[in-house]
Amino acid sequence: MNDFSRRTLLQSSAALAVGGLSWRSLAAHAASNSASSIKGDTIEHRTFGKTGLSIAVLGFGGAEIGYENTDQKTVDELLNAALDAGLDVVDTAECYINSEEQIARAIGRRRKEYHLFTKVGHWVPDGQPKDFAWTKDGVLASIERSLKRLNTDVLELVQLHSCNVDILKRGECIEGLEAAKKAGKTRFIGYSGDSAAASFAVESDRFDTLQTSVNICDQQSIELTLPLAKEKNMGVIAKRPIANAVWRYDAPPANDYHSEYYSRLQKLNYDFAKGERAKDAGPEGAAGIALRFTLMQHVHTAIVGTSNPKRWAQNAGLTKAGPLTDAQHKSIRETWKNASPENWVGQV
Ligand SMILES: NC(=O)c1ccc[n+]([C@@H]2O[C@H](COP(=O)([O-])OP(=O)(O)OC[C@H]3O[C@@H](n4cnc5c(N)ncnc54)[C@H](OP(=O)(O)O)[C@@H]3O)[C@@H](O)[C@H]2O)c1
Repeated sequence: MNDFSRRTLLQSSAALAVGGLSWRSLAAHAASNSASSIKGDTIEHRTFGKTGLSIAVLGFGGAEIGYENTDQKTVDELLNAALDAGLDVVDTAECYINSEEQIARAIGRRRKEYHLFTKVGHWVPDGQPKDFAWTKDGVLASIERSLKRLNTDVLELVQLHSCNVDILKRGECIEGLEAAKKAGKTRFIGYSGDSAAASFAVESDRFDTLQTSVNICDQQSIELTLPLAKEKNMGVIAKRPIANAVWRYDAPPANDYHSEYYSRLQKLNYDFAKGERAKDAGPEGAAGIALRFTLMQHVHTAIVGTSNPKRWAQNAGLTKAGPLTDAQHKSIRETWKNASPENWVGQV
């Protein structure tokens, strides 16, 4: 099993989602809320729903550095360069190998410059049964471990890491998050996941935020969960926001974490994701179109994963091109609607 294929263990399983607002007016609204930004005006900021935090539209996803065992020197360079360039959202998890510790070593001393998000549900202390991770005590134990690994007293956000709907209905893990919030261990609590479980989480009114897959190859959330998340003023984080950049592959990837999106992309056959356009690193190339498409949905930040020290600034540059044209956006939505069978559900 390669590093990325471990992620598959996690798999248990329309109109603009901005609900009547055009992306331009959403962006203008977001810009008007940037006063409390901890990073100023280097990149567009949006208000993270009911949390009230002002956050950059491009965050950092900490899975890749952990699963790829990126060396600490590269992580130091990557995260410090990104903070210097305007990064203020760092997302990680209890099970991304050493990602939490890598992040703390790299930028722990700059803790006031970024909002720190982690997840719970996949760590079991020695001697405890496997399902301990989703109990109230298990959630609280995992948060204590994350606080130590991240070398901080308080997190901005702790999220349930993609548990299924039955575990959510049992509710103990939510009680764990609520207790941690009450105890001041985390300012906000969220659910990270997709499809039916994400719907349940949004409907439950127990979470401040939702992290879910939104990208050119994964659009179920745009109609299923984002409209209600918007109505409930939840903060929304787009995970896998550039569809794992699967246009990079000329043949099915060995990495099975990327294979579903690779196979979807063959059927979607977007013109911007093949040939020279796929190699174009600018805003009209595949990465530019993919990221700008995601940011046109009702999301507040897109946490692109990377182990490349130059990537954050490069992708921040892509966001500066602003929204796609209405025709480009419509074409991606129509292509999805025409090509996607019912089983193209949100990928955990
Ligand atoms: N269940 C969950 O809660 C869950 C599940 C999945 C993901 N997540 C979160 O979401 C984050 C992001 O997801 P992800 O990393 O799987 O997917 P992603 O952000 O869509 O894709 C990351 C991949 O895209 C490449 N990339 C980035 N910018 C690029 C560009 N401009 N051009 C070409 N390639 C580019 C990166 O390679 P380089 O290294 O070369 O930059 C990396 O391999 C994770 O780190 C994690 O925090 C959460």
